[in-house]
Amino acid sequence: MTLFDTHVHLTDERFDADRQAVIDNFEAEQILGVIEAATDEADSAAAVKLACANARVYAAVGVHPHAAKDVSKDYVNILGRLADSQKVVAIGEIGLDYHYDFSPRDVQQAVFKAQIALAKDLKLPIIIHSREATKDMMDILAAFAPLSGVVHCFSGSKETALESIKLGLHVSFTGSLTFDNARKVQEAFIALPMDRVMAETDGPYLAPVPVRGKRNEPKYVRHVIEKMAALRNMDADEVAKINIENAKALFGVLGE
Ligand code: NI
Repeated sequence: MTLFDTHVHLTDERFDADRQAVIDNFEAEQILGVIEAATDEADSAAAVKLACANARVYAAVGVHPHAAKDVSKDYVNILGRLADSQKVVAIGEIGLDYHYDFSPRDVQQAVFKAQIALAKDLKLPIIIHSREATKDMMDILAAFAPLSGVVHCFSGSKETALESIKLGLHVSFTGSLTFDNARKVQEAFIALPMDRVMAETDGPYLAPVPVRGKRNEPKYVRHVIEKMAALRNMDADEVAKINIENAKALFGVLGE
């Protein structure tokens, strides 16, 4: 099975001991590539550096809602300059997180909107993080539609998933699709057309069953794909292929 992980955090300290070894194993594990999603300005620079040093790593640059309160005065320009790199394929991850509320909500919204505007300016897709913020999220996205991008680690309802694709977005699923209590997310997945869904790990977080609790890493995207295949009565290799085609179409990765 050929794999592509559309969202991972390899710059996380949980990869400090073996980051390069994990990346060097991609070829043997048939991982064609990964998208390294950034969380703040410094991490955006680190993501670009990692991508430039490793052919199979692509980067997204952006400020996560948790870090929205800490942006520098010039952050939009800083991200814009980083996005000049050929290896930058998206602005992300960006969005709203009302579960933790690490940044004030008005600040989260302002930083999110500024980065959507930047992505539209640069004609790059966005990678969206949305947690317990559905109403404000959908209002902001609708105001910017049509959009190109993906709602990452989808945790909402079938209705929100279908609304998202109407705005032009893709919807991406992590290991949480494999969990026992995942019925709502599974129903959302089944309701979506296959050309709008993607698989990701969000490693080091959210390792799928049967490796739940371990450090998550790109090779485990296989378990998300196998779950997708089982839920739709499809062949897992076929789902893996569709995941790669969708990643190519949205992010322009993997060349010709
Ligand atoms: Ni993430």
